[in-house]
Amino acid sequence: MSRTYQLEAGSQAATLNEAQLLDTQRAFDSVAADYDGPRGNNELIQRMRLTLWDTVRREIPAGSRLLDLGCGTGLDAVEFASRGYQVVASDWSPRMVERTHARAAAAGMQAQVSAVHVGVQQLDRLEGGFDGIYSNFGPLNCAPDMVEVAHQCARLLRPGGKLVFSVIGRICPWETGYYLFKGRFKRASIRATRGVTAVGMNRHTIWTQYYLPREFYRAFAPHFSLNGYRALSLFMPPPYLVDVYQRRRKFGEWLGRLDDRFGAWPLLRDMGDHFLIVMERR
Ligand SMILES: C[S@@+](CC[C@H](N)C(=O)[O-])C[C@H]1O[C@@H](n2cnc3c(N)ncnc32)[C@H](O)[C@@H]1O
Repeated sequence: MSRTYQLEAGSQAATLNEAQLLDTQRAFDSVAADYDGPRGNNELIQRMRLTLWDTVRREIPAGSRLLDLGCGTGLDAVEFASRGYQVVASDWSPRMVERTHARAAAAGMQAQVSAVHVGVQQLDRLEGGFDGIYSNFGPLNCAPDMVEVAHQCARLLRPGGKLVFSVIGRICPWETGYYLFKGRFKRASIRATRGVTAVGMNRHTIWTQYYLPREFYRAFAPHFSLNGYRALSLFMPPPYLVDVYQRRRKFGEWLGRLDDRFGAWPLLRDMGDHFLIVMERR
């Protein structure tokens, strides 16, 4: 019998079972080989990535031990290793873990980056003593039980340690407008789904749950104080609309500056393609 995880999503409950976790694993395995290309690392993604890099470096001093949740191909892990951090890079997709391992080897960083096949639902397998934990571009949207993730993060982090997560948000005006314009009404409202929802990628399914920042923080509140959060790609289009950005690059850059300037403002910070949230272990 497959194990079922309970999820609290707003006032409703939803479930995410092992079959769905395996669907998600297969989806990411299927794209691992070319995930550094337009699908996983286009210009708009790179821009958001820089914001996470800057935030981690500001919040956690070089030389610290970091844990990457959902490391993908290891772009972040190798970047932080090159800046003097020690990184344990974890992912639920074995193909992604292989890519991270290969990237670290190619950069001569095997001593600084350890790539492990561990899902966010398996964090009890890891030893603690981390100074910071980060997660970039939504791995936590695939977590079956956020209360358990928060509990494990609290166990893995030393007091005063930081969490820096970029999470897919619920309110993305660009996405809603774009799909309404295309007449794809169901797709336009997908982020409003309560609980787990199926999102297609490469003819596979990723089982995803969307969050408002405050909704997300609720699971972490017993162990972590909230240092702040901001929108990522609110004025800028989301990454899959990179061609819109490339057609009007100057205008796009101006939108990017609006994100930098106003993305942390009240109300605005609750929107965007992703949000970046920083918490501190009490
Ligand atoms: C959108 S990619 C982001 C990858 C990477 N963080 C980056 O910035 O490029 C999401 C990643 O989350 C991983 N993932 C999905 N479900 C997961 C789970 N349950 N536990 C850990 N990682 C998961 C996927 O395999 C994939 O590598």
